[in-house]
Amino acid sequence: MSVVHKRRKTTINTFLQKKAQGEKIAVLTAYDYSMARLLDQTGVDALLVGDSAANVVHGYGSTLPVSMDVMIAHTAAVARGTDKALVIADMPFMSFQPSTETAILNAGRFLKEGGAEAVKIEGGLEMVPTIRRVIECGIPVMGHIGLTPQSIHRFGGPKVQGREERSKHYLLESALALEDAGCFAMVLELMESGISMQITKALKTTATIGIGAGPDCDGQVLVINDILGLREPGFKPRFVRDYADLPPIIIEAASRFVGDVRSGKYPTKDESF
Ligand code: KIV
Repeated sequence: MSVVHKRRKTTINTFLQKKAQGEKIAVLTAYDYSMARLLDQTGVDALLVGDSAANVVHGYGSTLPVSMDVMIAHTAAVARGTDKALVIADMPFMSFQPSTETAILNAGRFLKEGGAEAVKIEGGLEMVPTIRRVIECGIPVMGHIGLTPQSIHRFGGPKVQGREERSKHYLLESALALEDAGCFAMVLELMESGISMQITKALKTTATIGIGAGPDCDGQVLVINDILGLREPGFKPRFVRDYADLPPIIIEAASRFVGDVRSGKYPTKDESF
């Protein structure tokens, strides 16, 4: 029996246990069935169907344009390809900000139609009442503070958070309030390592999952396309590590196919009926 078969299904309790035992949590994004099937075999704790789909799948310049329907389609595909990892759906821009009722209904759609087991909601103190109600409705929520990409225009660009006292205070207060609301985990994005360490130490039951937030979080998340080299040319944030360089492999394979078709080498008799 493979290691993967012995692995138990990850639930939000796994996050709690891992935090309590000081075991690091690994999260990756996924957007489709085929990739989810592969990633689920790696032992990854959770697959986040990030609204970064807007950038890396749909080619937009920000996460803002992606809709609920598109995110549900991505989530359902990932859920169909996932057996062990926790599937978390990212609530897109304007799916939760207008009202608590909107947030509850859209979060519910991710579980009912998308097969997600949790949702992620961006925002600190100001989003806490909404997040509390979503959780009260039985929907696990991963919070997300620091550089929250849906507010990119308010930040005026991808600026590292938690550098000034005011920002540090806001981040810590937000993290504590999100834990009190019942978030099982929380993304800490693009912030000073010192403040993410302080937040991680202060939280007793909510696991911190960093991206560009230093080594002291309870876990880390990266965008799958980024670690496979499937990025925009020239885009290489400091926190992204290259684990593979797929573009040359894909280009070489596809070029060979194009060549074989043009020269008549594909298909052979064996590849025909
Ligand atoms: O959408 C996304 O991929 C995310 C991660 C970067 C945390 O929110």
